[in-house]
Amino acid sequence: MSLGLLTVCVVGSGGREHALAHTLAETAAVVACPGNPGIAAEGIECTAGAPEEVVADLFVIGPEVPLVDGLADRLRARGRLVFGPGADGARLEGSKEWMKEVVREAGVPTARSAAFGEGEEGAALGFLRTLPGLYVVKTDGLAAGKGVLVTESIDEAHDDVRAKLSGAAFGPAGRRVVIEEGLSGPELSVLAVCDGNGGVAILPPAQDHKRLGDGDRGPNTGGMGALSPVPGVGRDLETLVAEKMVAPTLDVLARRGIDYRGVLYAGLMGTPEGPKLLEYNVRFGDPECQVVLPRLQGDVAGLLHEAASGHLRTGFRTEDDACVCLVLASEGYPEAPVSGRPITGIDEAAATDGVTIFHAGTAAAPERRGGLVTRGGRVLDVVARAASLGAARDLAYRAAALIAFEGKHHRSDIAAEAARWHKP
Ligand code: AMP
Ligand code: GLY
Repeated sequence: MSLGLLTVCVVGSGGREHALAHTLAETAAVVACPGNPGIAAEGIECTAGAPEEVVADLFVIGPEVPLVDGLADRLRARGRLVFGPGADGARLEGSKEWMKEVVREAGVPTARSAAFGEGEEGAALGFLRTLPGLYVVKTDGLAAGKGVLVTESIDEAHDDVRAKLSGAAFGPAGRRVVIEEGLSGPELSVLAVCDGNGGVAILPPAQDHKRLGDGDRGPNTGGMGALSPVPGVGRDLETLVAEKMVAPTLDVLARRGIDYRGVLYAGLMGTPEGPKLLEYNVRFGDPECQVVLPRLQGDVAGLLHEAASGHLRTGFRTEDDACVCLVLASEGYPEAPVSGRPITGIDEAAATDGVTIFHAGTAAAPERRGGLVTRGGRVLDVVARAASLGAARDLAYRAAALIAFEGKHHRSDIAAEAARWHKP
């Protein structure tokens, strides 16, 4: 047994990784690789080298791309303990076609779908014609949450299939597409911590706002805001996800020889026929992580260490309070975000009681003597905690107003609907 603090290496540089580093640092020594200016400002070491060169007791891999690329396998081959699936399990996110195959085998309720590749445009159109009027076209491969079109127009769906299959829209990630029947209903993100041996801890459910604009209009993004708890979602739904989705999926993976240790993130839609699975992700949601972690009471580093070791034992408690995350985005996000715009007001916003600012896309600008500039699409996550969703929402918007950069934009309705229903 180690007498010292665990050293945890958080791999990644976004808002999710800032939230992870911030929370893990409560009970562990943390190093971030590469981290970001917000993590560094908390006094957490950030290292620019390769994760393989870092020495730590535990590696927590934030984003999907390195997981799909097999970073967890490379670290495990070096004898490191890793929270995050190998490339085999990460295929659940890396290929929507494969995910659908696993989910069907597991008997998880999900949208009807079929996959098509180059030269199968005619067959794709034929399948679109069998769908009842809401069409969904997805890139098979990774597209940072932006490869999904949901439309009522079969012509638009057909054009999108053509653009994706030709490689014009998403390059190789889109050369296969999954076409699905469109479902409608409220969305929910349920994150399960899995230890590869059947041990599962369901984290408090969260809700993301994926569309760019108010009223869920505009293109899909990586996520414009999130909230937790989700009104109306109780223990029965958590049990349903655990028993009818996560457990049978892990069984199918195990039958295929896949040892899945990490987060299995179930993206659900509440349909009139009951909850259906839209997608699996193989890591913490971003920005869901930013509202889920602050609500956990207990040793989160210890929890992830146990999962990575294959033996989840201790649990955690969930705080009764509410958390809202508001994403401040760059001009041009999601298509062509503008970088390099000076940011002011972060410290003032962070000084607001109950507010934490996580950095998602910022960079140090040496010429501005310690100042920061925007770097990428989602720039800052304003996270507020309060007794109710309504109070947390007000707090987040008040703090967000203190932050300025040219082209800054955010949704004005994050958590608005949920706050109306939340009765703490
Ligand atoms: P995914 O990456 O598969 O989660 O898709 C991103 C977003 O597209 C989801 O969060 C939903 O908002 C939407 N979406 C995905 N699949 C469907 C579907 N079958 N019906 C309606 N909307 C969907
Ligand atoms: N918030 C959606 C995602 O992390 O994929």
